[in-house]
Amino acid sequence: TMMNQLLGMHQVEKEISQYFGIKRCIVVAGNSDNQDKVLYEFGDILTDSLDLLLPEGRNIIAVMGGTTMAMTAEYMGSLESEKRHNLFVPARGGIGEAMTVQANSVSAVMASKTGGHHRALYVPEQLSLETYNSLLQEPSIQEVLTLIEQSNCVVHSIGRALHMAARRKMSDDEMVMLKQNNAVAESFGYFFDEEGEVVYKIPRIGLQLKDVQKIPNVVAIAGGKSKAKAIRAYMKNAPKQTWLITDEAAANEILKGV
Ligand code: F6P
Repeated sequence: TMMNQLLGMHQVEKEISQYFGIKRCIVVAGNSDNQDKVLYEFGDILTDSLDLLLPEGRNIIAVMGGTTMAMTAEYMGSLESEKRHNLFVPARGGIGEAMTVQANSVSAVMASKTGGHHRALYVPEQLSLETYNSLLQEPSIQEVLTLIEQSNCVVHSIGRALHMAARRKMSDDEMVMLKQNNAVAESFGYFFDEEGEVVYKIPRIGLQLKDVQKIPNVVAIAGGKSKAKAIRAYMKNAPKQTWLITDEAAANEILKGV
């Protein structure tokens, strides 16, 4: 029955949050590998979660890119009120994604759906170190980097290591190195092994992993049976304040190994 299903889901949510030692886990019915409706629901749930988490006053929300983030953004609803104003910024400089799933695009869509504002960070890919360093001195870039540093919320997804490395067109040498180090998960440009240890990092400006530890509100959104291993690896060492929004298919697979 529906009631049993709901109770079952709550049990799974509790088991997962206890297993990872995180603040909360919310599980959506279905499998986002092949059901778009799960992603629409992620949008609703992210909106409700941020509504609970974000305090009054001005919030700065740093967001990552990826297809999950991009789809979730499209289904968000209002988060703005007379007392609460939200500014969305990309969490890190370009890490090699297609335009529509870049963090800049995701933050713009989230701002428009929730009634907030956004600021973009324009750092092209493939720059020489010299150009990169001088670009960082630009006041307009400095300004956005300062906002990112002040963020009190981060929203990100989690991906499979080799899949993400290929999507970002990383070199053959890097691919070999990732395989040798048993990288299974990727999040915001960091690669993790099955124990959740960082094995590689793409050097980029913006938010670093150690900064995320100190941010009071962290929401991770990732689902699909295919991502279960990656989610489990990343979540093992995830900041304790993290809320994980996932789906039934990933959740059941994660708990199988427990
Ligand atoms: O690039 C940002 C990011 O959120 C990564 O942290 C993650 O590995 C990836 O996107 C997931 O991408 P997708 O949602 O397309 O699977």
